[in-house]
Amino acid sequence: MRAEAFTTPLPIPPTVRPGTEPVVLPVTRTAVSLLPGAATTMLTFGGTFPGPTVIARPGQVVDIDVVNELDEPAVLHLHGAHVAAAHDGHVRDLIPTGGQRRYTFDNAQRAAHLWYHDHLLMRTAERVYRGLAGSYLLVDQAHDGLGLPNGDERDIPVALTDKTFDADGQLVYDPVGHTGFLGDVVLVNGVDRPVLTVEPGLLRLRILNASNARPYRLGRADGMPLVQVGTDGGLLATPASRGEVEVWPSERVDLLLDLSRMGDGDRVVILDAGVGDLMAVDVTGGPAEPAILPTSLGPAPDLDPPEVVRTITLDEHGGRFLLNGHGFDDAIRDVYARLGAVERWRLVNTTSFGHPIHLHLVSFLVRQRTSSGVALPLRPEDEGWKDTVLVRAFETVELDARFADHLGDFMYHCHVLEHEDHDMMSQFRVVDLGR
Ligand code: C2O
Ligand code: CU
Repeated sequence: MRAEAFTTPLPIPPTVRPGTEPVVLPVTRTAVSLLPGAATTMLTFGGTFPGPTVIARPGQVVDIDVVNELDEPAVLHLHGAHVAAAHDGHVRDLIPTGGQRRYTFDNAQRAAHLWYHDHLLMRTAERVYRGLAGSYLLVDQAHDGLGLPNGDERDIPVALTDKTFDADGQLVYDPVGHTGFLGDVVLVNGVDRPVLTVEPGLLRLRILNASNARPYRLGRADGMPLVQVGTDGGLLATPASRGEVEVWPSERVDLLLDLSRMGDGDRVVILDAGVGDLMAVDVTGGPAEPAILPTSLGPAPDLDPPEVVRTITLDEHGGRFLLNGHGFDDAIRDVYARLGAVERWRLVNTTSFGHPIHLHLVSFLVRQRTSSGVALPLRPEDEGWKDTVLVRAFETVELDARFADHLGDFMYHCHVLEHEDHDMMSQFRVVDLGR
C-alpha cells in the first residue's frame, strides 16, 4: 500500500494569515488522503492533516476560535508559545463537545516555528497520532534583510510523523512496551516519501518532529552536510553545517538548502539514518544567481546567571515513567518558579531511556550535560533557544530559563506522548515573590 517513492507531491497545508478577525479552527473527524487510493479517518484541526499553517508576526495578537465538533472534549496547546496560563491549553481546561473556546496569543516572543496540538489529559498521544497537530510560524520582518526564505512559498513547514495502517488504510494505534508508539511508515506532511519541486534558489524547510515517540537522524543522501539555521525558539546565531541532525519528538529544526547552483533534473534526497529516504526536492528550471548565505543570523542567546537551582528527577516506578516520583496530579506543583528570575533546572534522568523534556511557557538555554558527574559535550542540536531537550539515559541536563512575566500554572513533561500520558507530566507555578 506504500506509495512509490518521490511520486506524490509534498502536500503544503493551507496557510492562514490572521488579520483582525479571529481564526476559526474546527476540530473535526475527517477523511484524509494519506495513502494512494485510501481515505483515512483522522481527527483534524481545520479538516486537513497537518492542520493549517498559521503565519503571524511577533507582537501580533491572534485570536483562535476552536470549535469542538468531536464527540469528546478537546483542547488546543500552542507548543513553544510564551502565553498566559489561561490560554495555554491546560489539560484541565477543556472545550466540551459542541463547545467553542477563544485562545488569545499575543505572540510577544521571537520569530520561531511553533506548533499546535491537542493536549487532552491521558489521551494526548492517541489524539495527536490521529491527526491533531499543525504548524504556527512567527515571522519577523527584521529577518527579511537576511535573504532567507521567510514566511513565503520557499519557506515550507515539514511535519514528520509515523503511522501504522490496517488493510483498509485506517490508522492502527497499539502502543506496547516502554518505547512509545512507533509506526510502520514515516509520513512527510501526511504522505509517504513525497517530492517537492522548486526552482533553483534557497529553500527553507521547517522540520517538525510531530511523531509520538520516534526520533529522526536527518541527513542528505548525497552525503553533503545539512545547514541548520533555526531551532525550537528561532534562528541560531550563525548557520551550522551538520552531517546529521537529530530531531526528537516536538523538536523543530530549520534547514536551509542552497539549490541556487542546481538546475533541471537535479534532486536532493533527505533521509533518516534508520528508516531511509524521507523526501526528495527536485529542481526545475534555472539556472539562478548563486545565493549568498548570511554568515550571521542574529545575536547569540544570553541570560543572566541563575538565581535559583532546582532539581527534577526523571524516574520509573511500577513500569511507568514519572517526574519527581509521582504521576500527573492537579494538586501538585513541583516548582514555584520566581517571576522575573532566571532559574537553573537540573533534569536528572535515573532511567535507562532517553526522554525529550518540554517546558511550557519558556524558552531555555541548555547549559550542561553530565553523566555520573562527568561533563559531556552538549549535543550540536542543544544550541540556541530551546523548549524541548533530550535527556539521555542516566544523564543530567542543566538548563536556564527566565520566568519573565506570566503567573500561574504550566505543565512540563516528556514529549514521548505515551510517556506524557502515563505519567511523565507535572506542573510548575510561576509566583510573584516581590523583588
Ligand atoms: Cu507539545 Cu505540553 O506540549
Ligand atoms: Cu519519556
